[in-house]
Amino acid sequence: MKVAAVQFQPRFGEVEDNLRRAAELVRANPGAAVYVLPELFTTGYLFRDRAEARALAEPAAEGPTLRTLAQLARELDAVFVAGFAEREGDCVYNSAMVVSSSGLVGVYRKTHLFLDEKDWFDPGDTGFRVFEVGGVRLGVLICFDWVFPEAARVLALEGADILCHPANLVLPYAQSAMRIRAIENRVFTVTANRVGKDERAGKALAFTGASQITDLDGSVLASASVDREEVIHADIEPTAARDKHFTPRNDLFADRRPEFYQRLQTRTA
Ligand code: ACM
Repeated sequence: MKVAAVQFQPRFGEVEDNLRRAAELVRANPGAAVYVLPELFTTGYLFRDRAEARALAEPAAEGPTLRTLAQLARELDAVFVAGFAEREGDCVYNSAMVVSSSGLVGVYRKTHLFLDEKDWFDPGDTGFRVFEVGGVRLGVLICFDWVFPEAARVLALEGADILCHPANLVLPYAQSAMRIRAIENRVFTVTANRVGKDERAGKALAFTGASQITDLDGSVLASASVDREEVIHADIEPTAARDKHFTPRNDLFADRRPEFYQRLQTRTA
C-alpha cells in the first residue's frame, strides 16, 4: 500500500485558493491509498488573534475542506488526513479530518497546543483516536503532539498501524522524535509538514519542511526537501505493525509493566 505526505505552502487566509492548489498537487501525484496533508493547510498558521482563527475556521461536516477532500477521495479512491481550523459553536479547534470516498470518517482535535496557539484555539477534547478505513488503522497526531510520547503510545495501544502527523513545524526535533515513536511502538509514521513563511502583524514564522515517512524500525523510507512543495511516498504493509515483537523474546506491548507506570497519571515533583 502506498502512503504519501503532501508538503505544501499555504497562503495565509486564502482558503479556497489553498484548497485548489493542494488538490492540484495531489492530482499530479496519484496512486497513494493514504495522503497526509499539513496542519492548518487551508488557512495558514500565524493568526492575529482568536477572532481571526474563528473567522477562517469551518464546521468539519459542512465546510469547503470536506467538500474538496471528499471529491478528491472519490476521484482517487484514497483516504485523506488533513489539518484544518474547526469551528463548533463558540469553540475553535486546531483539528485534523479523516476523509474517505464515503465522506467524513472522523475528526481529531489537537491535544497539546503550541506557543500562541493557546491564544487562538481551544484545547482539543476528542482524545487520541484511531480510525479504521479499508482495514487500515490510522492514528492521528497534530504537530506538537509529537513531543508527548504518551500520545503516540495511546494511539499504538489502541491499534494504530500508521501515525498520521499533519504538522507546521518550526523546531528541528520532530523528525528524529518520530523515528523514535516508530521504534518504541512499532508503527509506521507519516509526517506532512509545510514550507514557507507566515509574516503578519510584525511577527514571522518559518516552517521547516523535511516531511518524512518512517518504517517500523524507525528507518526513513522517504524524506522531503526543506523548502519545496512536493509529495513523498512509500510502499508499506500496514498490518505488519500489528506484530510487536522486538526480539524473539520481547513483545513491546506484552512486556510492558503498567503497574509501574502509575506515576504517569500525576506529577509529583
Ligand atoms: C506546532 O505544533 N505547530 C509546532
